[in-house]
Amino acid sequence: MPSLKLAHISDLHFSNWDWNPAQFFSKRWLGNLNFLLGRRRIFSYERLAALPALFKEKGITHVLVTGDLSTTSSPAEFKKAQEFIQTLQTEGLQVFCIPGNHDQYTRTAYKQQLFYDYFPTKWDGSSYDLKEHGMTAKKISDTWWLVGLDTALATSWFFSSGLFSEKTERSFIEFLSQLPAGEQVLLFNHFPFFQHESPRKRLVRGNALRKILEKFPQIKIYCHGHTHRQCLADLRASQLPIIFDSGSTVHRDRGTWHELTLSPENLTTQVYIWKDEKWQPARQESYVLV
Ligand SMILES: [Fe+2]
Ligand SMILES: [Fe+2]
Repeated sequence: MPSLKLAHISDLHFSNWDWNPAQFFSKRWLGNLNFLLGRRRIFSYERLAALPALFKEKGITHVLVTGDLSTTSSPAEFKKAQEFIQTLQTEGLQVFCIPGNHDQYTRTAYKQQLFYDYFPTKWDGSSYDLKEHGMTAKKISDTWWLVGLDTALATSWFFSSGLFSEKTERSFIEFLSQLPAGEQVLLFNHFPFFQHESPRKRLVRGNALRKILEKFPQIKIYCHGHTHRQCLADLRASQLPIIFDSGSTVHRDRGTWHELTLSPENLTTQVYIWKDEKWQPARQESYVLV
């Protein structure tokens, strides 16, 4: 059976500073200020332009974006992110996006679910809808499912936490309970489920998500972003999946992305870093999935 090749990118944080005075009445002002004071210098968007052709050249067919496509959830930022996603689609890549906390940054954007004006709420014929059920799914091979979660919500100033809601938990358990034997899940969510981030940044009810990961061994891979720290961790000895954090792909000093090559029995992960003005392979790991 031919293997699948996927790319995992995250935390693109497209931005668009404006002087609209209305921002001073919302959290957008804080996001824009953070961007002007620091993030503008630590992010390098130019290197994203190399990705569509590179993905195509490497035979990648699916791209997972684990949230924080924007900085303050403004329409102009979402439009920039959408235009980048369209450059990937123009190369024939299937792209799957879920929101991060920066995509539900203000109360208004969250109330209006503005993210979904730019990105789909469900993937092809799935009966699960990110906006309504907090999850959606797509079968991408005879054995592999992609499942995305929306655990982002608007938070008060100085908080960047998420929530694995009871409603999403019910939908996810229902989906997993119906999976035929032998089918496997690559799950992606903006937030890590571990509770060691500060309470201001962590996924609320992350322990409920962890219990599902322990109970359903069909979930083989968990991809996330949010921390801006690249990480590979095989936690199968603890009845948990293999965990991937691609880091922030646009980070000037430590920007990364992952290439995942999947078959029913094997997984190879290649980390790419930006070096000498181009994306270059770095660490590689292989896993047997039985
Ligand atoms: Fe982020
Ligand atoms: Fe985040």
